[in-house]
Amino acid sequence: MPSVLITGGHSGIGLAASRELVAKGAEIVLAGRSPERMGEVADELRSRGGSVSTLALDMSSLSSVREAAAQLKSMLAEGTIAPLEAILCNAGGRFDGDVSYSPDGYETTFATNCLGNFLLVELLVPQLVDEGRIVFTASGTHDPDTPDGRYIGGVAEPDALTLAATGKDGSKPLSASKRYATSKLCTVMYAYELDRRLRRSGSSIASIAFDPGAIPDTAFLRGMPRPVQVLAASSPMKWLQKRMGITMSTADFSGASLAELAVDPRFADASGKYFQAKEGTLTAVPSAKLSYDEQRAAKLWEDSRRLVHLSTEEEAPVLR
Ligand SMILES: NC(=O)c1ccc[n+]([C@@H]2O[C@H](COP(=O)([O-])OP(=O)(O)OC[C@H]3O[C@@H](n4cnc5c(N)ncnc54)[C@H](OP(=O)(O)O)[C@@H]3O)[C@@H](O)[C@H]2O)c1
Repeated sequence: MPSVLITGGHSGIGLAASRELVAKGAEIVLAGRSPERMGEVADELRSRGGSVSTLALDMSSLSSVREAAAQLKSMLAEGTIAPLEAILCNAGGRFDGDVSYSPDGYETTFATNCLGNFLLVELLVPQLVDEGRIVFTASGTHDPDTPDGRYIGGVAEPDALTLAATGKDGSKPLSASKRYATSKLCTVMYAYELDRRLRRSGSSIASIAFDPGAIPDTAFLRGMPRPVQVLAASSPMKWLQKRMGITMSTADFSGASLAELAVDPRFADASGKYFQAKEGTLTAVPSAKLSYDEQRAAKLWEDSRRLVHLSTEEEAPVLR
């Protein structure tokens, strides 16, 4: 069975996906910035019969992404891990509190949720087997025309240069909610633009966007005050959110859905689509109107290339 690289596979939705992938017989590479936690989860997955490796990766740091990609290439070349069947760009989060910047000087949410994943994909696409898949964990908050998007307060223009520099020129930065929702709009646009580039070059690799739904029980809200986290995960609050039309799910169901999108033959023609996990059902649904804007997506891609300083040698030929 080929291997699956999963970022943030040691917690929340990613952990549930890792467990499901092991149950399906896949070899797993856990990538993240928490070696101890990944080690514990790797032991747990091995006790379930899984073959598991770990890879140090801080998504907010471009040099860390480059180092992780180089290490994964060596592991593949040496045969330490099986050929790569899927890349799950799942790590990410909302970064509450004052705006902060990555080691490369980019706003933390955009650096982590967007540029880290973008660079990882650019560097690793050529390593995937034929008909391999890339799945991006997005969020329903990216669509301001849905209750999920309205609840979080809408999105800003998906412009990489502006998002990376928000608050830097002395102007008021975007709110944490808007930084998050916009980063997920960009994530959906990356998935669609990647699909278009792959199709143009005749590649058999699939690019899929995934909304896991609202799951307040993961560590997702860790940047919020503790009482807010407890309230968000309470039964009355979940009931209220459901009444408001929020897309509700559980870590187990959404993790299993992510695993299916990665390897299940049922999703062999899923490229260029957006899937949503909602109350026990996984279906392809439309994403935000803006996410289908091809001109904006092409600009987002090219600007992201500039921001990650992608060299000609690093450019994947299938993505030119
Ligand atoms: N829970 C929800 O309601 C919800 C809804 C829609 C979308 N999502 C998305 O689902 C994905 C998984 O979130 P979750 O709910 O499972 O929350 P989670 O348990 O907090 O998982 C997030 C994962 O991302 C990792 N991560 C964050 N920053 C990182 C960095 N700089 N470098 C490497 N790894 C980093 C975390 O690693 P550490 O342990 O090192 O922090 C963690 O493993 C995220 O992309 C999130 O935006 C969640």
